[in-house]
Amino acid sequence: MLKIDFKDFYDFDKNKYEKNVLEIHDKVEKLKNYNSEYLGWMEYTTKQNDEIDKAIQLGIEFQKFETLVVIGIGGSFLGTKSFYEIFKDRISQQKTKLIFLGNNISGHYLKTVLKKLENKDFAINIISKSGGTLEPAIAFRLVKDLLYKKYGEDAKTRIIVTTDPFKGNLRKSAIDEGYQTLAIPGNIGGRYSIFTTVGFFPLSAAGIDAYEMIEGIRDAKKIFDKRNFDNPAYKYAIARRIACEKDKKIEIFTAYDPTFTYFLEWLKQLFGESEGKDGKGIYPMSVINTRDLHSLGQFIQEGTKDHFETIIWADENNEIIFDELDVDFDGLNDLAGIDIDIINRKAMEGTRIAHKNGNIKNILIELEEISPYSLAYLSYFFMKACSMTCYLLKVDPFNQPGVEDYKKEIKNLLNNL
Ligand code: PA5
Repeated sequence: MLKIDFKDFYDFDKNKYEKNVLEIHDKVEKLKNYNSEYLGWMEYTTKQNDEIDKAIQLGIEFQKFETLVVIGIGGSFLGTKSFYEIFKDRISQQKTKLIFLGNNISGHYLKTVLKKLENKDFAINIISKSGGTLEPAIAFRLVKDLLYKKYGEDAKTRIIVTTDPFKGNLRKSAIDEGYQTLAIPGNIGGRYSIFTTVGFFPLSAAGIDAYEMIEGIRDAKKIFDKRNFDNPAYKYAIARRIACEKDKKIEIFTAYDPTFTYFLEWLKQLFGESEGKDGKGIYPMSVINTRDLHSLGQFIQEGTKDHFETIIWADENNEIIFDELDVDFDGLNDLAGIDIDIINRKAMEGTRIAHKNGNIKNILIELEEISPYSLAYLSYFFMKACSMTCYLLKVDPFNQPGVEDYKKEIKNLLNNL
C-alpha cells in the first residue's frame, strides 16, 4: 500500500538501532492498555466501538443541514480539516459543507464567517478535549448566539459537543444546556485524535466514508505494529534520527497537490508538538510544489544545508490534457495529449534529482491511490513513526508543556484588560 524509497537518503546502520527500536516496541505494547499513557489511539479505532458508530450515524443525520460549523483548534481541528480539504471535491456526492472556526482570534475572520452564516442553514460541532481552550470558546459563544437568534430553542438540536466524557467546562455546559455529546477518550491526546469522534462526526456529515478510514487503520496496523526492524514506520523514525545526527534539523514535508496543504499542517503539528521539547527535535515545515519551487525552491536547492525532504506522492489519473495548436506560440506542442498528472510526476522526479545533486537528502512516500482508506493508512504510519522517533529521542510524544507557557502569558494580559 505504501512504497517508501530511501535510496536518496543516508544508509541505515541496523546494528546501531535495532535493539533500541525493539525494546521501545515491547515497552509500548506493554503500556498501550494503561489509561495514563496516552496510547489509546493504537487500539481505539479498530475495536468494536459504540461511540464511533454513534458519531458516524449522527454525522449522517446531520447531512440534512447545509453547513456544519466545526469549532476547534490544534488536534481538535487539523486532522478533520486535512481530510475535508483532500476529499470534499473528490467524493461523488458532497453533503454538508464544513466551515472551520475557533482556530484563530481574528476579528475580521470571525466577522466574515458570522456574516456568511446569517444566510445559511447551519449546525455546530464544538470540539475541545479540555473544554477550556480560548479560541474555540470565543467562537462557540459567538456562533451559538447567532444559532439561537435564528432557530430559538430548536438551536439545541443543532449543537454537538465533542469533549472529554467526564470532565471540563464544556462537558458541564453541554449537560446543563441539554446538548448532545460525543466522547473523546481520555487516553488519546489531541494530535492523535483524528480517528475518533473528533474526525468521524464532521467528516461523516460531509459525506466522507469513515468506515473506509477505519479499514485503512486496520490494514495499517497489520504492517506498522509489527515487531520488526524493517517495519517501515520504524525505518522512517530511524531515518529522522540519522538526519538529526547529521545536523539536518529541518524536515520539509512536500506535496504536489494544494489539497494536501492541511495534511501537511497536521503533520507539522504531529511532529512539532510531539518532538520539539528539551531543546531537541526536528523543525517541521512544508511546501506545496510546484508552487513553492517558485518561491522557496532556490533556498532549498542552494541555501543553508540543514534540511531534508519527505515527499508524499500518489499517481493520479484526472485525464486532463491539452491539444496541439497550429501555431506553437508557447512551445508546448510536444506535451499535447500528455496527461497533466504525468507532467506533474515528471516535475516531482526532476526536482528530486536536482535536490539530490544539490546534496539535499529525501525520502519518497508513495500511496497507491488517494482515498479515505489510503490517507488513514498513511496517517497511522506517521503516528506510529512519530511516537517511535520521540521515544528514540527520549522525549514524551504525548505532552506539550511548552504550550502552557504562552497560554499563561496570554491569560495574564487578558486578566488585566
Ligand atoms: O495536540 C494537542 O493536544 C493540542 O494541539 C490540542 O489538540 C489543542 O491545544 C486543542 O485542545 P482542546 O481540544 O483541549 O481544546
